[in-house]
Amino acid sequence: LPLSNSRDFEMRQPHVLVLPFPAQGHIKPMLCLAELLCQAGLRVAFLSNHHSHRRLSNLQDLSTRFPTLHFQSISDGLPEEHPRNLVHFMHLVHSIKNVTKPLLRDLLISLSHKSDIPPVSCIIADGILSFAIDVAEELQIKVIIFGTISSCCLWSYLCVPKLIQQGELQFSDSDMSQEVGSVPEMQGSLRLHDRPYSFGLKQLEDPNFQFFVSETQAMTRAFAVIFNTFDSLEAPVLSQMIPLLPKVYTIGPLHALWKARLGDLSQHSSSNGHLREADHNCITWLDSQPPRSVVYVSFGSYVVLTREELLEFWHGLVNSCKRFLWVLRPDMIAGEKDHDQMIARELDLGSKEKGLLVDWAPQEEVLAHPSVGGFLTHCGWNSTLESMVAGVPMLCWPKLPDQLVNSRCVSEVWKIGLDLKDTCDRSTVEKMVRALMEDRRVEVMRSVDGMSKLARERVSHGGSSSRNLEMLIQELETQ
Ligand code: UDX
Repeated sequence: LPLSNSRDFEMRQPHVLVLPFPAQGHIKPMLCLAELLCQAGLRVAFLSNHHSHRRLSNLQDLSTRFPTLHFQSISDGLPEEHPRNLVHFMHLVHSIKNVTKPLLRDLLISLSHKSDIPPVSCIIADGILSFAIDVAEELQIKVIIFGTISSCCLWSYLCVPKLIQQGELQFSDSDMSQEVGSVPEMQGSLRLHDRPYSFGLKQLEDPNFQFFVSETQAMTRAFAVIFNTFDSLEAPVLSQMIPLLPKVYTIGPLHALWKARLGDLSQHSSSNGHLREADHNCITWLDSQPPRSVVYVSFGSYVVLTREELLEFWHGLVNSCKRFLWVLRPDMIAGEKDHDQMIARELDLGSKEKGLLVDWAPQEEVLAHPSVGGFLTHCGWNSTLESMVAGVPMLCWPKLPDQLVNSRCVSEVWKIGLDLKDTCDRSTVEKMVRALMEDRRVEVMRSVDGMSKLARERVSHGGSSSRNLEMLIQELETQ
């Protein structure tokens, strides 16, 4: 093409801005999507906060592999040394809204005046950054919301106004094992105990609770929504949600769709989108363990444990006599730093016989390893999907609101694991680890194998998630 024609062509290219919430469980799936869009020829700006941008692994590599993928960063208003952890979650949320929102607006306006970059034609924003909808509406840009949590949990939040109206959200003297009546399609599977609004968030005025409810309601204002799930997994709740939402694209499990289409492009494909460096020595350790003998233990990127909880898990695991690979993030123990390091060292020394502790693991590779036979998990949505695809049964110990719903689905609806809920005394941990690895293994593995097969089919050529991604791409190409 003559130079001027090729410039014209570039300026007419669809330009998608992907905006994740700055946390591991959000950045990873949204980067998977960004790369899949680039593979389809779209131009993508991946916009994270400065703090995450500095930590993202292999950026150089990714920019070379995907020439139309452009990484950009923006301020979240907090100083670099701010911990940005669970304790300060609402602080981060407010700061992002106050500082990032006007900066995002300025960035979009300045991009619309560039002569060498096409204006942004669509924003794909994280489900908890609804301010992007306000900005997109003002600047008349298409906006699509990406829900990073399970549809079951999003549905539970969408039902909140109705639950309030029906007086079902009165926590004070409720029996927590009582079943919930008015979250349609989840009757019989959710107890008060499992609802995202009943554990640690006992008051309707709680700012965390209000935040998640209002962010979920805001999805209805978007042009479309993307869910990291697949049709048959959450079909009953999706059938309830679809009439209330704009267009819905279910394209999960996204990490598996990514692997099906792009996996061979990367040597350590699971390091894609990591904010910490993974310790690959654990793969060598796993190589020397018997098949299906190891319990992989990880509580994700955000959850914090008390020293007491940590020690109960450790004793329970050691007493179960099973081998284990445990991710003990340096910031995982609530308390003073010196003490934490001392405990971690002690556990490390005491684990020599049967276990290995690492700061951060290449989780997808670990779950796919033939020596791994079970996953003791916090049930974050990415971990749940990754375990499901790898065909590894789960022992769930949920902490955060969405994880409570996921763990109940894992154990009672999909029957691909067991639920510890909020119990973690050493004898229960020991008993449940043995149940997962021995006593109830045959029963659980029947559903695990079936679910893993189903998930893989959905992301393979012609599968529903694969087709939905094609439709999403077509939508993005239409300006
Ligand atoms: C939290 C929520 O709990 C989750 O449900 C929500 O969708 C996002 O925010 P997080 O604690 O980060 O997530 O858990 P999870 O969603 O499971 O994501 C963690 C990611 O980090 C997974 O993709 C996992 O593969 C990766 N990981 C974790 C590693 O690669 N190595 C590790 O050692 C631990």
